[in-house]
Amino acid sequence: MENFVQYTPTEVIFGRETENQTGEEVKKWGGSRVLLIYGGGSVIRSGLLERVKMSLESEGIACEELGGVHPNPRLSFAEKGVKKAIACRADFILAVGGGSVIDTAKAIAHGAANPEAKLWDIWTGKVPLMKSMPVGVVLTIAAAGSEMSDSAVLTNEELGKKAGINTPFNRVKFAIMNPELTFTLPRYQLACGITDIMMHTMERYFIPGINCELTDEIAEGLLRTVMRNGMKAMKNQKDYDAMAEIMWCSSLSHNDLTSCGRGKDFSVHKFGHALSAKYDVAHGASLSAVWGSWARFQYDAAPDRFARFAEQVLEISSKGKSQMEVALQGIEKTEEYFHNLGMPVSLTELGVHSSDEDIHALSMDATMGNTIKLSRLKPLSATQVYEIYKMAI
Ligand code: NZQ
Ligand code: ZN
Repeated sequence: MENFVQYTPTEVIFGRETENQTGEEVKKWGGSRVLLIYGGGSVIRSGLLERVKMSLESEGIACEELGGVHPNPRLSFAEKGVKKAIACRADFILAVGGGSVIDTAKAIAHGAANPEAKLWDIWTGKVPLMKSMPVGVVLTIAAAGSEMSDSAVLTNEELGKKAGINTPFNRVKFAIMNPELTFTLPRYQLACGITDIMMHTMERYFIPGINCELTDEIAEGLLRTVMRNGMKAMKNQKDYDAMAEIMWCSSLSHNDLTSCGRGKDFSVHKFGHALSAKYDVAHGASLSAVWGSWARFQYDAAPDRFARFAEQVLEISSKGKSQMEVALQGIEKTEEYFHNLGMPVSLTELGVHSSDEDIHALSMDATMGNTIKLSRLKPLSATQVYEIYKMAI
């Protein structure tokens, strides 16, 4: 087991009608003037925004709002939010929505607490982040896990680059999670969310040569749970118990519980971010479209891990088969699962038809101009990343 630090300070308030506790929570964490961030309007249509505002009002908390966050959120919108947070002297940023809204709220908090710095300089580490503002979340989609993660992701539309920042300041103060709020999700977004939750766990699982019994068992249990309940929820989106399991899986898949002692890889996310930056595709779909190709390229570097995944998560029997055969069957069955969700398992299915030049550019983007090598299995420079994208066509 590798040395690790486990720091998950977010207070979770889980269950029916918990959004009515938003005001109380903001007050508890010291907020008196809130800047409330939301997306393209789903929270208006569902009535959630009104309920949250009433809850703030009942605690005497002043509230300004900024709606319009785009999925794959933009740097320029976050910069607008920073100006607004400063202008209204907000002391608390509240995200009501999914990963895009939460990440925008985190960015606004960092920018407003450091008005002398350019937000992108903070994002790229040019200016070290030493302080931020408190952020709270009312979650509407189980997917990105941003409600408990130390990460936030923005797209710099001028540079055509999607990038994340990892810092303890990204851990939000509280996350209100009412599974009923996810009942209105478009099926495609539900499927993208299930895929992303799986990927957050798998990106921590396929790391060779480390013995971590408890972390492995937790990861495998999480994967079985999200896959089983994912199918239930796809059949009946108002299945509270299934949605509750998925929502809890979402948070635990990305709060680092399943990297304790093992660490993380996250190379498939780099492939996905390059695709989303260029083609504005949904995050979950960008991952399922390349995962199978990534896995076929990588599995002979850790056939034992892939075979264990096949047996423990997908219940594939190893009787009479070689380890490599079992490993490969696991990859095929995972792709079959993505297909059953309606997720793409190739670039063509993703709707991306790239020229050779485009794929070369994607490979350079994913590897920061071939300056870094991805993955803790076989190291992937731009040449191997190019090969994997080609396999994914
Ligand atoms: O904008 P609205 O109108 O709210 O609609 C959203 C959006 O169109 C809709 N939606 C969300 N909840 C809904 C709903 N529609 C109806 N009913 C509801 N209850 O769903 C669409 C997608 O929303 P988004 O917030 O983009 O989804 P998600 O949570 O999947 O977030 C994706 C973003 O998070 C980043 C991704 O890269 C992407 O930019 N990630 C953030 C991470 C983190 N901070 O830790 C980790 C992830 O790996 C990921 O990279
Ligand atoms: Zn993700």
